[in-house]
Amino acid sequence: MRILITGGTGFIGGHIRDAILRRPGLGDGTLIRCMTRDASGKSHGDPRVSFVAGDVRDEASLACATEGVDVAVHCVQFPNHPVENPSKGHTYLEIDAGGTRRLAAACRRSAVRRIVYLSGAGTSEDRPEPWFRAKVVAERAVRESGCEWTILRPSWVYGPEDHSLNRFVAFIRLLPVVPVIGDGKNKVQPVAIWDVADAAADSVLLDAAINETIGLGGPEELTMDEILETVQRVMGTRRRLIHQPRWLVKLAVAPLALLPRPPLSPAAVDFILQEAIVDIGPARRIFGRDFMSLETGLRKYLES
Ligand SMILES: NC(=O)c1ccc[n+]([C@@H]2O[C@H](COP(=O)([O-])OP(=O)(O)OC[C@H]3O[C@@H](n4cnc5c(N)ncnc54)[C@H](OP(=O)(O)O)[C@@H]3O)[C@@H](O)[C@H]2O)c1
Repeated sequence: MRILITGGTGFIGGHIRDAILRRPGLGDGTLIRCMTRDASGKSHGDPRVSFVAGDVRDEASLACATEGVDVAVHCVQFPNHPVENPSKGHTYLEIDAGGTRRLAAACRRSAVRRIVYLSGAGTSEDRPEPWFRAKVVAERAVRESGCEWTILRPSWVYGPEDHSLNRFVAFIRLLPVVPVIGDGKNKVQPVAIWDVADAAADSVLLDAAINETIGLGGPEELTMDEILETVQRVMGTRRRLIHQPRWLVKLAVAPLALLPRPPLSPAAVDFILQEAIVDIGPARRIFGRDFMSLETGLRKYLES
């Protein structure tokens, strides 16, 4: 089987690559092609993994990347997400919506059998936010591609190399108090990267996942404050949480737009504070297992 992983150098794509490689019985016949914007000098210890240059804004590169592929796993995100940079084309519309449309069309032309797409929790036609509008377009392109498809909608994904929870881990290690945007009451369902990667690997291989849209979340719905309490319990620390009103943070970060790579923007603050709750019933039914709790997942990497 030849598998293309777009975003195979990223947080989620990299773990999906490794989860597929760990599957027993796949043997030497399975080849994984990781797509990256710059493949020069990239290598992996396993001879079954190769890198191919490709950009979701460039149809010709997608034609090459998808050639001879059986299954495409699509998990691209624009650099410095969730801060958009329209002058560079780093936007939800260009990368999530347009990029997925172009990738789905390339898959159809290359007769790719199946697409596994990493969407996001809460995606719905009713939501006006740009990230949901883009995911709706992307999901539709995948469903209408003519290929078999699986759409995974993860809640907040954490683990080694994540770009969000690890910031709080650094704050807790380095600062006497922990700054939290908002009132800390927004609820998410943190899901460990290993569970997301295994679900994607299953979706590549399992017929039960064909043409299904599957929410991925941990077993608990937790507020931001509860998440930070759990992180501190695992780390054995006790720092005070200092809440900053959302409106004040949005006002304070607006001038950062002048920087070449702003750490936050007003829209990114809204993205960070959205609730992300999923129905975990379909994941349980299709993958046949429960996902790990936040405390178990944190212990797996913070204690090592
Ligand atoms: N992380 C989460 O908590 C979370 C939650 C729900 C859903 N998701 C979804 O999961 C997917 C992956 O997210 P992630 O957190 O793994 O992102 P990430 O770590 O930032 O990885 C982004 C990947 O996209 C690639 N990329 C960036 N621009 C590209 C372009 N123009 N063309 C082709 N590839 C490009 C990068 O490759 P190069 O830099 O090597 O080119 C990199 O491999 C996204 O669709 C996201 O919406 C993530």
